[in-house]
Amino acid sequence: MTLIPNQRHLFDIPDEVAYLNVATMGPLPLAAARAGQQGLARKLQPWTIPDADFFEDTRRLRPLLAELVGADEAGIAFVPSASYGLATAARNITLAKGQKILLLEDQFPSNVYTWRALARATGAVIETIGAAGNTSLSQALLQAITPDTGLVACAHVRWTDGARLDLVAIGARCREVGAALVLDLTQSCGAMSFDMRDVQPDFVVVAGYKWLLGPYALGFLYAAPHRRTGVPLEQNWINREGAADFSRLIDYTDAYAPGAERYDMGERSNFALLPAFHESVRQILDWGIDRVEATLAHRNRALAAELEGLGLPAMAETERGPHYLGALLPETAPADLTARLKAEKIYVSKRGNRLRITPHLFTSDEDVARFLAALKRHLG
Ligand SMILES: Cc1ncc(COP(=O)(O)O)c(C=O)c1O
Repeated sequence: MTLIPNQRHLFDIPDEVAYLNVATMGPLPLAAARAGQQGLARKLQPWTIPDADFFEDTRRLRPLLAELVGADEAGIAFVPSASYGLATAARNITLAKGQKILLLEDQFPSNVYTWRALARATGAVIETIGAAGNTSLSQALLQAITPDTGLVACAHVRWTDGARLDLVAIGARCREVGAALVLDLTQSCGAMSFDMRDVQPDFVVVAGYKWLLGPYALGFLYAAPHRRTGVPLEQNWINREGAADFSRLIDYTDAYAPGAERYDMGERSNFALLPAFHESVRQILDWGIDRVEATLAHRNRALAAELEGLGLPAMAETERGPHYLGALLPETAPADLTARLKAEKIYVSKRGNRLRITPHLFTSDEDVARFLAALKRHLG
């Protein structure tokens, strides 16, 4: 597969900035910022916004979001955050007292608190799974799924260290025992191939502001075909049958629009954010997720070898997301390491005892060289 050449010209990243922190927040491409600005400006003259446009941006974007994850368009709903999507999933999953909810050790908090609340409400019991000895995180989770498992909630890569989960095997095992599967793909969607048909989860949530390079406060929820008749978190007007006819809105109806659209958030027709998100997602699809993945894998393979040489081992490539490095810091590392790097305009993040390094297609060889040189100095 041909790798993608450097794409810095599509972003507003000065030469002296080494931004290696997409796991915290992806930068908007310039084209997305322009589309968002144009969308925001429409509100200066609201009389120029036709009623039909309340439906237009979501209609255009839904199939692109579906394409990102190999889903059908009817399974996609618009949500403002991963937490909102997880809350929607939790609202529609029935668990019995004593059934197990399996989570990963150090999982992202939104994907823990949601299930703690559901466990309290239902009497289900949370079990937290970690890697142990020679057993990888993925194997440990797979082994923990038993007939008393009611739900598995996890990611494709863990946000702290990039540990990768074999979602095809986990999906198959969940179906075997009749457990629901809820996935948070916020740290992988856009940079790692994923196909809904292979995994068959019940719900998937994605916040759009990291690897999809989208604006903040917009993401999507996927609901499997048998999960599309559930209860939305909000009762709003626009995801009802016939909502396009504004003169008939007070002919109230209990009938929702078809598919997962019933789960769309209120004020989904965000005239500023949707066009920006559209541009970001279109850009990712134009690059091709498999090519993004291969290009970032190539960059990170070399970077991981250098880090290993400096005494900061990341996980083996077979065990981690190819786009994601969580390098183990030596105990002697200065507590303010990320602040010191930031003072040199080098941006990475720290989660637990790991330095999280997440470059993208705008990352240059100079960025990486500067980062490694600074690291050597500060750890020296
Ligand atoms: C794995 C994961 N999920 C979700 C989020 C964001 O969650 P929310 O959209 O609920 O703020 C993050 C942000 O760091 C994350 O790392």
